[in-house]
Amino acid sequence: MKRIVILASGSGSNAENIISFFRENDLVEVSAVFTNKKTAAVLDRCERLKVPAFYFNRGAFSDSDSFIKVLQGLSPDLIVLAGFLWKIPSPFINAFPNCIINIHPALLPKYGGKGMYGAKVHQAVKENGDSETGITIHYVNENYDEGAIIFQASTPISSEDSAESIAEKVHQLEYEHFPKVIEKLLM
Ligand code: GAR
Repeated sequence: MKRIVILASGSGSNAENIISFFRENDLVEVSAVFTNKKTAAVLDRCERLKVPAFYFNRGAFSDSDSFIKVLQGLSPDLIVLAGFLWKIPSPFINAFPNCIINIHPALLPKYGGKGMYGAKVHQAVKENGDSETGITIHYVNENYDEGAIIFQASTPISSEDSAESIAEKVHQLEYEHFPKVIEKLLM
């Protein structure tokens, strides 16, 4: 059995999509979801889906040793950042080499880095008048959005798109591709 642990900070629609996708696969399970936000909707989703979910605060996260031990106790084959917004500390990265991946809602290296997440990315894409956007799935290293790229997919956008409709197009790409890319990495 391959085990996935998900870290998510917000709504958790990707987390739910990944959990649902692997319900159909006897060889892979989502063992747990962790969030850094007490009120994150991902906690409600996990309750409904009956997946163990845990909240941790900044102190627990910065004290990497204990957080690492908790995660090592789950023996994850892959740690998936699905809308997780804190930078991952180096000891954490070193404890799980080539094992932590992130999804970013744009075509990196465009629109990456500190402060570029969620709606802010889509707003910037809109303001620049780009004709396409997309998703990037990449390994996580010490710098925001700079780890080796695993997969990208794009979608056309036009001047008629709003930041919200761009977000919707990007979410559809995420739902379609993220679970499949995870599955490939695990097999
Ligand atoms: C997703 O679009 C993901 O790509 C983005 O946050 C959203 C979370 O949505 N991640 C980042 O911006 C990371 N820099 P969700 O909570 O509904 O899955």
